[in-house]
Amino acid sequence: MNIVLDVQGLSKGFTMHHLDSRLAAFSDISFDLRAGEFLLLKGQNGAGKSTLLRTLYRTYLAQDGKVLFHSDHGVIDLVRAADVDVTHLRRTEIGFVTQFLVARPRVSAEALVAEPLRMAGWSAERALEEARHWLRAFGVKESLWRAYPTTFSGGEQQKVNLARALILPQKLLLLDEPTASLDAGARAALVARLRELKDGGTAMIGVFHHPDDVEHLIDRVIDLTPDAPQMEDREDVVV
Ligand SMILES: Nc1ncnc2c1ncn2[C@@H]1O[C@H](COP(=O)(O)OP(=O)(O)OP(=O)(O)O)[C@@H](O)[C@H]1O
Ligand SMILES: [Mg+2]
Repeated sequence: MNIVLDVQGLSKGFTMHHLDSRLAAFSDISFDLRAGEFLLLKGQNGAGKSTLLRTLYRTYLAQDGKVLFHSDHGVIDLVRAADVDVTHLRRTEIGFVTQFLVARPRVSAEALVAEPLRMAGWSAERALEEARHWLRAFGVKESLWRAYPTTFSGGEQQKVNLARALILPQKLLLLDEPTASLDAGARAALVARLRELKDGGTAMIGVFHHPDDVEHLIDRVIDLTPDAPQMEDREDVVV
């Protein structure tokens, strides 16, 4: 399968101005990822898992290294890419799922989920139909589809968040503990959708609170625990 991501010598630290010191979140990370591969990030709290995902998504700027993304339009280094290109890639090729829905006032659940399809040129009617399919798949009650998610429970918001984030297949999908507040039914729906996306060629990098959920999807593991061997092949690993 084709290479999607080639990460070379990536390092990120934070300057703590009030302490006049620097904190290294991670340093000299290298790996590559092909279409349809699933990479699990693990490590204790504070090991740098979320920071690595945010650096790959360019929410954080790396200190050093390269993140070569093989986009539909050629290879682009996400560390050095212009903001406008990063924004475009986030809309079309790179997805990021966190534990939190960014709900907007007076935007219904179904409209929020349909939005990525609308932006990709789908008609309003088809987009809404597809949105309702995914809201149902993740277990959002039909009575909530036209309501505003700002008032939903944490788990309900997360289901809307997943429906929106996973409705369109992406080339690269980053996942930061997406199962944290989900019930068993929604966790199963998420794993089924990830399996479908993986089979369709989406490359994924994820942090999971319960790695057992995704056990059969994992191809490789990176352990960010200090002094742990960085990259392990799936065969050698007990998650
Ligand atoms: N914006 C920031 N400014 C300063 N320090 C930060 C910032 N973001 C993260 N850190 C620090 O970087 C380290 C790694 O944090 P990170 O959130 O990546 O950990 P994690 O592995 O995701 O942990 P958890 O399992 O708790 O989610 C922590 O010590 C954290 O305090
Ligand atoms: Mg984290």
